[in-house]
Amino acid sequence: MPDDPYAFNPYDPDETQHMWDLLVRMRAEAPVTHPMEGMAYIARYADNAAVFKDAKRFSSAGGFRGPGVVVPENESFLGEIDPPLHPRIRRLLLRAFTLQQANASEAWIRRRVRTMFDAFAAKGGGDLMHDIAVPLPGSVAAHALGIPDEHHDQVAQWCHDLLHSTWPQTNATERGHGIAGGFPEFAELLDSLIAERRALGADAPNDLMSRMVNASADDGWHLSDVHIRTLSVNTLAGSLSTTYLLGNLFHRFVTDPENFTAVLRAEPAKIPMAVEESLRFEPPVLFLFRTATADTEIAGCPIAKGERIITGIASANRDETVYDHADEYRLDRDTLPDHLAFGVGPHICLGDHLTRVEARVVLEEMLDVFGRGVLKLAPGYERRLVPMFLEYGPESLDVVVAR
Ligand code: HEM
Repeated sequence: MPDDPYAFNPYDPDETQHMWDLLVRMRAEAPVTHPMEGMAYIARYADNAAVFKDAKRFSSAGGFRGPGVVVPENESFLGEIDPPLHPRIRRLLLRAFTLQQANASEAWIRRRVRTMFDAFAAKGGGDLMHDIAVPLPGSVAAHALGIPDEHHDQVAQWCHDLLHSTWPQTNATERGHGIAGGFPEFAELLDSLIAERRALGADAPNDLMSRMVNASADDGWHLSDVHIRTLSVNTLAGSLSTTYLLGNLFHRFVTDPENFTAVLRAEPAKIPMAVEESLRFEPPVLFLFRTATADTEIAGCPIAKGERIITGIASANRDETVYDHADEYRLDRDTLPDHLAFGVGPHICLGDHLTRVEARVVLEEMLDVFGRGVLKLAPGYERRLVPMFLEYGPESLDVVVAR
């Protein structure tokens, strides 16, 4: 649609990561636009929240898979499952992904983060993304699942390989079908941990994998071992969005000593607000997809059955009708209305509690290890965003530790 003033390419990160001005105009003038044939982009907060909450009208099936690829239920990620199976699984998982469970990880996370920052300080700097923001989230999720520390690096590598292979689109690689065929060593490790927990029953360690193994619905229905393996990979892969939350916070820490670092040092109680405001202002996931299950309308605009809906998280989070000074990152807000960085409704992120604990601990330890003005951008550093169309955060962040 060459003459469309709202057109953009949703698969081009050079466009999706830099369209804040266009989003202001869309929210004011065109709440539903058509960036491509058969696709509708939703700009306003209320309309996006309504789409997220309505799993019947707006299906998650198909998710990120290629057209026509059918994935067996027990090899499906949660984000691609619709009712009635999705709420069944969620009910069981909500018993595992609790605030209490996230808090139980805090001491381990703090030790891990402290070790990483101390090593970083000792070598006088480096790339904060490569050294901390990339490896930490996968390791935290692996720990929460119950994967022993010595496997974390290997697991992170397998996750990276899996997400960058043909598996996301086709559910297969040249080695074989599904996770078991495409990544047999990864599947073998997870299967052995699951089997160990099945054998231990009520004596299994208190981790997410055990909770998935031992959870059953009132009618006795429970997750199969294959599905627990898939959901474990889903948890590890889902956690990787935290990388860009940490990256966005790190960038602020280094480049805004006055309004960010000094404020948090003086008032550590504002750290949770700093995390929420980052999630709102620079959401690590810019948008997601749904499919209309019937002819319908959004904001009075017709939507055809089968149309792909792009839920504009980035736009919703800066909606002027919801947030004061929506286009500014501020730590002096009295309240912050809910943002959509984790989605909302039946598919809302299961890792939200863990993410909040992890980001808070990272900022607390960072303030403790690096005194005022100690971290500086490396000479010649230029901020480039990660080259992924629906993500937002720095690709690298080279800093030096001033003595
Ligand atoms: C800053 C970090 C994170 C962001 C921005 C984020 C974002 C999201 C969003 C937007 C969704 C909703 C998907 C939808 O509506 O289709 C989601 C779902 C999910 N997230 Fe996260 N996430 C983060 C961290 C994590 C972590 C740490 C984990 C695991 C420990 C995790 C696991 C999941 C899972 C399993 C789902 C699927 C839930 C479902 O479909 O029912 N996420 N996440």
